[in-house]
Amino acid sequence: MAGKRITVKTIAAMKKRGEQIVALTAYDFHTARMEETAGVHMILVGDSFQMAVLGEETTLGASMDVLVAHCKAVRKGAPDTLVVGDMPFGSYQPSDEIAIKNAVRFVAEAGADAVKLEGGNSAAISRVKAIVNSGIPVMGHIGLLPQSIKSEGSYRVVRSDSEEILLEQIRALDEAGAFSAVLEMIEEEVAAKISSVSGIATIGIGAGRYTHGQILVVNDMLGMNGDFNPKFLKKYADLHSVIKSALDNYVSDVTGGAFPGEENVFKGRGKAQ
Ligand code: KIV
Repeated sequence: MAGKRITVKTIAAMKKRGEQIVALTAYDFHTARMEETAGVHMILVGDSFQMAVLGEETTLGASMDVLVAHCKAVRKGAPDTLVVGDMPFGSYQPSDEIAIKNAVRFVAEAGADAVKLEGGNSAAISRVKAIVNSGIPVMGHIGLLPQSIKSEGSYRVVRSDSEEILLEQIRALDEAGAFSAVLEMIEEEVAAKISSVSGIATIGIGAGRYTHGQILVVNDMLGMNGDFNPKFLKKYADLHSVIKSALDNYVSDVTGGAFPGEENVFKGRGKAQ
């Protein structure tokens, strides 16, 4: 894919050909650049930023201003990857008009290719339709909805008793014009059924092996938080240990006088080096 810009049409074509779609979150320029080099197809500037980066307990406090700023950095780092801005809590719930206004910010100010919003009820479907009609591609998000934590009470796996509702929701998202949908924390068999009937690409997180693609939170899959080990997560690195050992070495070098060394100091009068 190198050098070829990935669009929502690319994602639809990959789904049709049965090629797995690789998605990942990113929140900064350098990570986005590495993800694009690695061949990630879709980068989500997720409201998971609030938990993974800011250390909050929920995503509810995420703000448009912050996510737009990070989305701009991600766009810069990954010019050829499909960049999706995640609509934070409160940025689309009040009305279709407010949803369009905020979706436009992701595209106009940050250069995003699409936006994502949570939910499959009639209000969410109305927002999807309104944003799509304004010319901005939308990714849906069903199953576990982190922005509904206040009504749900806890983050739980979505089981087969919700299958009919989820099937209805994926159909509604497709009809509303969404180009894909995240399936979050859904029993594998149920997610497989949804994916098999879905006209749009399903991107799973904690939804098993049979979705059209996978997404993870980049800080989690890189092992930044040693205490976060849910079953669905595979850690591809242990950055917690790598960073901890680097920090320990820095502290001991500075306190022991080993840093700065001869090679780190400027010498000579008036010479800027
Ligand atoms: O905010 C986010 O990172 C997400 C993913 C977990 C899909 O919504």
